[in-house]
Amino acid sequence: MLIAGNWKMNPPTLAEAEALGRALRLAPPTPATLLVCPPFTALASLAALLRGTRIGLGAQNCAATPDAGAHTGEISAAMLRDLGASHVILGHSERRADQAESDALIRAKIAAARAHGLIPIVCVGETADQRRAGQAESIVAAQLAASLPDDFAGIIAYEPIWAIGTGLTPSAADVTAMHAALHADLAARFGARAEAMPILYGGSVKPGNAADLLALPHVGGALVGGASLNAADFLAIAAAG
Ligand code: 13P
Repeated sequence: MLIAGNWKMNPPTLAEAEALGRALRLAPPTPATLLVCPPFTALASLAALLRGTRIGLGAQNCAATPDAGAHTGEISAAMLRDLGASHVILGHSERRADQAESDALIRAKIAAARAHGLIPIVCVGETADQRRAGQAESIVAAQLAASLPDDFAGIIAYEPIWAIGTGLTPSAADVTAMHAALHADLAARFGARAEAMPILYGGSVKPGNAADLLALPHVGGALVGGASLNAADFLAIAAAG
């Protein structure tokens, strides 16, 4: 089980990010692997705070261009590796929507991440309208097919957009069906290598629903947003895994 915290554009100050890191450092050992993904501005501090703990460090995005150069405002996978990050979230629905990230751009970012040894956590998910129209599985399958390069290795996160930050979650049957479909798609494309591609669930994961969600077939962990900003909640979710 991988329990990853996506802090998004939070908390507002470095001091608060460090306080959260210090609280997590006290985490009792859990069978689950823990990962925190703070904003870029807190990565170096968190790397220092979490060094020697069992908590890994990830970023929330990287440039599609793998190497240093004239790309104002961009952060490369090489820079993230240098700071101690092991993972990077790519293709989050907030970036697909707010920054108009395309599947092709996400594919290029995955290649850049892998070129520098970062493990990508690639997000896919449907809108409420798409689910109502019965298109959830076809939309997610299309995102997966177009986002992943042929030599993909890494982690998938299924995050229904309508479940993010809303307190809503899909039914156990819907999560099970989607994760089974994703696993089948990965197996069809990548063969035995698909077994090493965990599929996380994300969207309103809380201490109260984590055990039920994490027990479902083909759910290899959770990508946690809001609840990862509270150390006690994040650790409770980790304990449920
Ligand atoms: P919430 O847990 O706040 O719903 O966010 C989920 C998410 O987007 C994680 O990447």
